[in-house]
Amino acid sequence: MRAVDALIRRRLASDVVLINQIAEHIIGGGGKRLRPMLHLLAAEAAGYGGDHHIPLAALIEFIHTSTLLHDDVVDESDLRRGRKTANALWGNAASVLVGDFLYSRSFQMMVELDDMRIMRILADTTNRIAEGEVLQLLNIGNADTSEQAYLDVIERKTAVLFSAATRLGAVLAGLPAAQEDALARYGMDLGFAFQIADDVLDYVSDAQTLGKNIGDDLAEGKPTLPVIRAIAGAGPEQAALLRGAIESGDTGALDGIVAAIRDSGALDYAHDRAAGYARSARAALAALPPSPARDALAVLADYAVDRRT
Ligand code: IPE
Ligand code: IPE
Ligand code: MG
Ligand code: MG
Repeated sequence: MRAVDALIRRRLASDVVLINQIAEHIIGGGGKRLRPMLHLLAAEAAGYGGDHHIPLAALIEFIHTSTLLHDDVVDESDLRRGRKTANALWGNAASVLVGDFLYSRSFQMMVELDDMRIMRILADTTNRIAEGEVLQLLNIGNADTSEQAYLDVIERKTAVLFSAATRLGAVLAGLPAAQEDALARYGMDLGFAFQIADDVLDYVSDAQTLGKNIGDDLAEGKPTLPVIRAIAGAGPEQAALLRGAIESGDTGALDGIVAAIRDSGALDYAHDRAAGYARSARAALAALPPSPARDALAVLADYAVDRRT
């Protein structure tokens, strides 16, 4: 991870000052570096002995970071990694353009690896992420969004990048297709668990702990699993309150809304769904030989669900 971080720093550089400032702001804010960590562990669990996992981990984090710069513009968020967002400090235009810089830098790094299979996986992945964010846009303000429609969004916007990160560990090691698919399945299910947990935290955490403002999803009219489930399970009065909040994006009554979601059992339900995906992720690891790296991947599946940040 130290080597990955050093490479991230080195490849951020541009002679355009504003790019350095914004990229340093978001990368320097930290973040969990979970996707690069998963890639390194997957490569190790797959028995890879080379050094391409370092640039791959770094460029995966660049892809992630570029989506965050874009996502915070779309979501009108003003807190990320405990800092004001780039869009809050420099405006939407600069954020989108520096997101494009990081995104295209990741493709430069990909091409340097000169492996068509890797490029195909990452090209398909980034295309799916874009589809996910657009699909989500179409659900904004729609209180009738189904659980399946929500799952379709999070598969694309979040899970596919986790899945690519772990699949590419297997690809580097040249594992047979069944084991490669198992590592991809692990990443995919972990990604579902991770995003569902994120959507619960948006209702129950606090900005200090999370480093992001809570209530953002509701303010934006984004129907995530806690609210979708609560609408389905609540009595008529509470369901009307929740529907109104999604349709209007009014968070004036956030406390009452969180209470309605909690009373409906939807937070427990969402947590259980996330735990179910984490279990399935762990089960996929059985296709690999035992190793400390495989054990660490199993631990991370649980962390994705029970994390505080
Ligand atoms: C945030 O991802 C976006 C989601 C998929 C929920 P992370 O929670 O991994 O963000 P950082 O990199 O740690 O800040
Ligand atoms: C982020 O989704 C997903 C991507 C960056 C593609 P969210 O909007 O739920 O993530 P946060 O809560 O802003 O981190
Ligand atoms: Mg967001
Ligand atoms: Mg969120």
